[in-house]
Amino acid sequence: MLPESENEHAMSELIIEYPVCATEGRELLPAQTVLSDENLKKMISGNQSPIRTGRLLDFGSIKSDILEFLDQDNYLAVFDNRETRQRLMARMMKTELPLSLLESIYLFREYDFYTYRHLLTVSALSTLLAEYLVKDRISIMDDIVGPPSHDIGKIAVPIDILNKPTPLTSDEHNILKHHTLTGYVLLCYYFRDPVNITARVARDHHERRDGSGYPRGIRIDDTMIELVIVTDIYDALISSRPYRPSSYDKRTALEEITRMAEIGQVSWNVVKVLINQNRKKRVSIGDCLVSLEKRGVPPPDNLYGIIADKDLCKPKK
Ligand SMILES: [Fe+2]
Ligand SMILES: [Fe+2]
Repeated sequence: MLPESENEHAMSELIIEYPVCATEGRELLPAQTVLSDENLKKMISGNQSPIRTGRLLDFGSIKSDILEFLDQDNYLAVFDNRETRQRLMARMMKTELPLSLLESIYLFREYDFYTYRHLLTVSALSTLLAEYLVKDRISIMDDIVGPPSHDIGKIAVPIDILNKPTPLTSDEHNILKHHTLTGYVLLCYYFRDPVNITARVARDHHERRDGSGYPRGIRIDDTMIELVIVTDIYDALISSRPYRPSSYDKRTALEEITRMAEIGQVSWNVVKVLINQNRKKRVSIGDCLVSLEKRGVPPPDNLYGIIADKDLCKPKK
């Protein structure tokens, strides 16, 4: 088992604001539960049925969907040759997950196709980039970044919030942000493991290196989580969303992530690997030079991060 991060002591202060329910509707934890080890273990012990698992790529049309997504413009530069795809598919083929989780992932295919696509592309890109970041721990990385589950907690976010084309109110933003904790609880439950690393990725993928993220505002310094942090941001930028009908072009998206690395929010190493894989001529990471020049133009109609009633909100204690 992998060691918990140094920041783990903050765990005792983490409280869910909303109840978390399993896919069949049963409440797993009520609102205001402290996410302590003890409470998570108690929740898990209530699930006595044997864990049934299935292979990710054998479930529904997931395999052909991933291949189709990687063929789209913004990903072609990274997954440009047959050998890369075959290698990726061979690694993803090993990913076996609890059936309840696979069913949850597949639910998004029906009711929120953007999130379904996002889960699969972040998982594929993270799996590929892991080869260059942690060669020595690659099988562990596959268990962590391979499962397309970092945003699984969005299953509890109402669809009209997920797809709202205008700025969210602060209440709606709080509901959206809660997907990190909902995902954490659900994955601990599905894997029957209160310190499951995939669950920690779901909990921490909106945290930042400088402590400016959420839900805890802790400083992240863990390659396994930072990899998903960067691929998550990158995929969100290059995809069109209801709040941003035109996506960032690839160049501007990479410049934006470079800017985040410059101000210490995300990992330089991961950003370099991502930029290198987007280039025609790839070099070893030590030789990868990144220009700090910004020439790209972000899309004009981007409402990301704008809160409708921000001035009305009182600061949270
Ligand atoms: Fe997220
Ligand atoms: Fe995400």
